[in-house]
Amino acid sequence: MSEELWSKVDQHLESLFVSKDPSLESNLRESQAAGLPSIQVSALQGKLLNLLAATAGAKRILEIGTLGGYSTTWLARALPKGGRLVTLEFEPLHARKARENLERSGVGNLVDIRVGPALETLATLVREGSAPFDFVFIDADKENYAGYLTGALKLSRPGTLIVADNVVRSGGILDPLSTDPRVLGIRKFLSKLAAEKRVDATAIQTVGSKGHDGLAVFRVL
Ligand code: SAH
Ligand code: DHB
Ligand code: MG
Repeated sequence: MSEELWSKVDQHLESLFVSKDPSLESNLRESQAAGLPSIQVSALQGKLLNLLAATAGAKRILEIGTLGGYSTTWLARALPKGGRLVTLEFEPLHARKARENLERSGVGNLVDIRVGPALETLATLVREGSAPFDFVFIDADKENYAGYLTGALKLSRPGTLIVADNVVRSGGILDPLSTDPRVLGIRKFLSKLAAEKRVDATAIQTVGSKGHDGLAVFRVL
């Protein structure tokens, strides 16, 4: 088994299940041209997020980690009439590119981009008495995932569905000698999630064009 094969299989599945979308292709091209890192979810993962949010009937979606708005677009397209998505991003350049990309995809009017450190923005949303979110996607700096879990739960209601990206890191989470702060952050997140009584959780490994990684999926009780 190799990354090359996983990528080929992803290409095949994408050709079967993801319709060609010029605006999403532009999103990737423009983000890359602006020097943003190419670490967005794959098209197949974007579609999974879209299907999950739509199935959850999510009217209010929270995303932590916008980048160029690629996953944001997939999620925003799951919103019903009157729905809204709030996405949190630290880097002004990323937020600016995301804004352009979202406008081009026709979902700009559905999305609020809040620029700043997400832990602070989450605290602000709590303070503002923001209505609970129906679906949350956690995908920013791995060091702060445990804090994002706490923040997301404060902004949830029973039944809220939460997905967290990158929870396996090529199996790095099992390496007892790892000093990578991202790996340590994910490990802390996973143990906190496992001990969290307010959720019912699972995690699945994934392979594909993004290598070997995984998603945690949990529901607020
Ligand atoms: N969800 C995106 C990818 C996000 S990449 C997609 O799949 O399309 C992670 C993003 O989190 C980057 O844009 C990075 O700038 C941002 N980020 C990193 N640290 C952050 C922080 N402390 N607060 C908010 N955003 C942060
Ligand atoms: C990285 C971040 C991500 O969210 C991702 O999906 C892949 C890689 C990174 O920071 O390297
Ligand atoms: Mg990710």
